[in-house]
Amino acid sequence: MSTQIAHVLEETRSFPPPPEFQRRARVQSREQYEEMYRRSVEDPDGFWGDIAQEFHWFKRWDRVLNPDNAPFFKWFEGGLTNISYNCLDRHLQGERRTKRAIIWEGEPGDTRTLTYEELHQEVCQFANCLKQLGLKKGDRVAIYMPMIPELPVAMLACARIGAVHSVIFGGFSANAIVDRVHDFQACMIITADGGWRRGHVVELKKAVDEALPKCPSVKNVVVVHRTAQDVTMEPGRDHWWHALMKDASPDCPAEELDAEHPLYILYTSGSTGKPKGILHTTGGYLVGTAATSKYVFDLRDEDVYWCTADIGWVTGHSYIVYGILAIGGTSLMYEGAPNHPHPGRFWEIIDKYQVNVFYTAPTAIRAFAKWGEKWPQQYSLESLRLLGTVGEPINPEAWIWYYKNIGRERCPIVDTWWQTETGMIMITTLPGAAPAKPGSAGLPFFGVDPAIVSEDGEEVDAGHSGLLVVRRPWPAMLRTLYGDDERFQEVYWSKYEQQGWYFTGDGAFRDQNGYFMIIGRIDDVINVSGHRLGTMEIESALVSSPLVAEAAVVGYPHDMKGQGICAFVSVPEGVDVHESDKEVLREHVAHEIGAIAKPDVIRFTEALPKTRSGKIMRRLLRDIAAGKDSHQDTTTLEDFSVLARLRESEES
Ligand code: PRX
Repeated sequence: MSTQIAHVLEETRSFPPPPEFQRRARVQSREQYEEMYRRSVEDPDGFWGDIAQEFHWFKRWDRVLNPDNAPFFKWFEGGLTNISYNCLDRHLQGERRTKRAIIWEGEPGDTRTLTYEELHQEVCQFANCLKQLGLKKGDRVAIYMPMIPELPVAMLACARIGAVHSVIFGGFSANAIVDRVHDFQACMIITADGGWRRGHVVELKKAVDEALPKCPSVKNVVVVHRTAQDVTMEPGRDHWWHALMKDASPDCPAEELDAEHPLYILYTSGSTGKPKGILHTTGGYLVGTAATSKYVFDLRDEDVYWCTADIGWVTGHSYIVYGILAIGGTSLMYEGAPNHPHPGRFWEIIDKYQVNVFYTAPTAIRAFAKWGEKWPQQYSLESLRLLGTVGEPINPEAWIWYYKNIGRERCPIVDTWWQTETGMIMITTLPGAAPAKPGSAGLPFFGVDPAIVSEDGEEVDAGHSGLLVVRRPWPAMLRTLYGDDERFQEVYWSKYEQQGWYFTGDGAFRDQNGYFMIIGRIDDVINVSGHRLGTMEIESALVSSPLVAEAAVVGYPHDMKGQGICAFVSVPEGVDVHESDKEVLREHVAHEIGAIAKPDVIRFTEALPKTRSGKIMRRLLRDIAAGKDSHQDTTTLEDFSVLARLRESEES
């Protein structure tokens, strides 16, 4: 931890916004930012209320924030609205009616553009299909789809009728679908025959078929025809999207929903074996994601904006779909891999569609850097005016590479810190307001009150690390964990219960300028390529194999992925393991969770090193994982008992 702090503190380079960017920016100086920030925290109801007024309410709220039943905060109580209406119908009156809402490019090169009017029509039609299949307000729907326009259409159609969607990332396995569908009792799954990834078909319907026998709550499956390979369709249960849409009416008024009506559930990893169903609701989420889209990306009506995340993660929910469409932006979606058919594909797309604002992840930037400057050099990239990153700390080298090779030293970079739980960007330096510092997320967004505190809640001095908390509620905050209010209180609110602060699970520090730097998770969650994985989830997947007696999973620094996954595995007595069993176990984890959870390194050991009281010595394992060549090729069972004895006093 301390070396990283030293590394970032030593980073003295700072990049002021280019004057031409600053002149047009919504917030043009640190003073203006401070002024607006002050108002946002001195009068949060006034601040958020003003932003909310820009949107459509069937009935205005009675109260902006109701903190009476903390931590079950309510926003815009008494208000009636609909986020699908705000993302679509609201734009149909003026010029935005014929503006592009979604520009889409498939991996094979096929393209599609939907104007606001067209998107509205398709969403209304699909909402009618959902109703026809018996879906009602409050029903839950699982969405397991590739990055195709039908995915946001499905989300917006659910939101239109008040059904609650839960998007399951297409890289997750059938078992992950079962766990999630079971947890939120979905009555429908919307999927596709497949999606394209690196020239291959990812067979989504097949995974759904594998999951369905264990999902008795699911009565209907809707399937988009995308990749055209053979799929099994069970009559009465499975329906082709296009067949349903053929006769669907385009007339479907949006339901008038309570501001606190559930919008979606999105599962994310925590420190236990069971993913948490983060619940977001309607009114506050609309206001929070729209406000951040407007100020952080400084979006203009003429901009083409591209976020490269998959909609299976929160970034796609907030900043491909809801926040961007709520403010009438043009959102570009791309289906496939960044290096297919060549490593310049992203830059080709930027030139082709004249993308102005580009938002991606540090792990992708590190991959681009590895593939080499020659790829972006073949493209003009002149349309770009702002870059962003999200998902994990960005190392200053990657930041500089991005700044030089993609931004051509003329685009500010916004490093945005937030979480599935926060729903919206919480910390970032607004692009026209103040200099960006590589490796630092920067300053709090309006109305957000983060602090770095010690275990017992004292604020720590600049330059010292501590735990990142948020001291007041914000509109896009999670409302609970689906079906588990107790775990919600325990995970996020019990640590600083007295103070009433939200605990983020991240370690961070602040520099003399008030900039926040995020160090990373302090719990048993690892961040692999910007994706959160719980070590316990991977451990439970491993121990379900007959080759494994016990397993301990730790993260270790990885050049490309940020963190890699290292699994220490002890084998049951009498079982003989071979080098090839490592691949068997990796595949086993892919089958249980998904390919993203495959351990990079598996080490067979005599026994897991434990303290006298029986606790696995994780710190020791982290050190071992960080210190050794990850490609060592040994089938001899390693013995960590001597190291464990040396460490005993330290870890117990
Ligand atoms: O550790 C932080 C890291 O990602 C975690 C949240 O992960 P998730 O809920 O999957 O959401 C990712 C996309 C919003 C945080 O607790 N993280 C996210 N953004 C940053 C970051 N770490 C450092 N810098 C960031 N900009």
